[in-house]
Amino acid sequence: MINYKDLGLVNTKVMFEKAMKGGYAIPAFNFNNMEQLQAIVKAAVETKSPVILQVSKGARQYANQTLLRYMAEGAVAYAKELGCQNPEIVLHLDHGDSFETCKSCIDMGFSSVMIDGSHLPYEENVALTKKVVDYAHQFDVTVEGELGVLAGVEDEVSSDHHTYTDPAEVVDFVTKTGCDSLAISIGTSHGAFKFTPEQCHVDPATGRLVPPPLAFDVLDGVMKELPGFPIVLHGSSSVPQEEVEIINANGGALKAAIGIPEEELRKAAKSSVCKINIDSDSRLAMTAAIRKVFADKPAEFDPRKYLGPARDNMEKLYKEKIINVLGSDNKLVD
Ligand code: G3H
Ligand code: 13P
Ligand code: ZN
Repeated sequence: MINYKDLGLVNTKVMFEKAMKGGYAIPAFNFNNMEQLQAIVKAAVETKSPVILQVSKGARQYANQTLLRYMAEGAVAYAKELGCQNPEIVLHLDHGDSFETCKSCIDMGFSSVMIDGSHLPYEENVALTKKVVDYAHQFDVTVEGELGVLAGVEDEVSSDHHTYTDPAEVVDFVTKTGCDSLAISIGTSHGAFKFTPEQCHVDPATGRLVPPPLAFDVLDGVMKELPGFPIVLHGSSSVPQEEVEIINANGGALKAAIGIPEEELRKAAKSSVCKINIDSDSRLAMTAAIRKVFADKPAEFDPRKYLGPARDNMEKLYKEKIINVLGSDNKLVD
């Protein structure tokens, strides 16, 4: 049993309290490899932002859970080496699918876990989430639960439509489970294809597709029921069209990739939404930079020559999110 505090990590408790008071949200960036992690840590240090490093099931399968946890420990040391005296870094399990997975992460030093019982019948979701909370809280590890179903793929559970969170259920869920934060469904979804073109209208100024708005009335309903309780938004990539265009101009074939407009995320970040999950945008930034090097320099075969620009492009993206969307910059104490 390794406690996250011994690794220099923090849980989400104080981080969310400060975000709630300050009207901003903490970035929760997924990582699967060293380049993503380096870019996240550099962006967080240079903008003085707290950050949540997320490990999904796919990441655990791809890179190995143990290795990722050591990389997160290394991230704390790297942040300090970059000049950050007091980094605030959470290592979080994204979409935990069972008690056993959550326990295994807690036991190896994760400081926060999500137990995603959103696809289960309500009472089963309550029971599973409570079981994880009871275990996690013995070690001061914070727990994110979820109510409502996002359209698209949620860690192998796929749904073709949203089931928005029912505000009438949230008090009962939070009281019975004791969870520390709640992911809700208000129209975001995972991946780079969040809306079909038919669901969108064309912005006459830019010619770009604008998706239908998020269900802010549902968020308002949740906030009314649970004043001051930390809310989480999954599926919050904006799918930058510049990156999609670079990918497509250099041999890619991403058709009608559409994300959540940044103005909507800015609005959410000012509310009780304390954590905003972003993964797909990082994938796009990485892929765009790599495709461009491959197209411009077909003789290049040193991975550092294409992974380096990919890392730089992700760092730029993370900084842009922190400063212009989430507002979590300049929040660390020197
Ligand atoms: O929740 C979805 C995340 O983007 C993680 O996706 O399981 O393919 O790593 P993944
Ligand atoms: P995106 O696919 O919108 O980046 O969402 C990521 C996410 O919610 C991870 O849990
Ligand atoms: Zn998610």
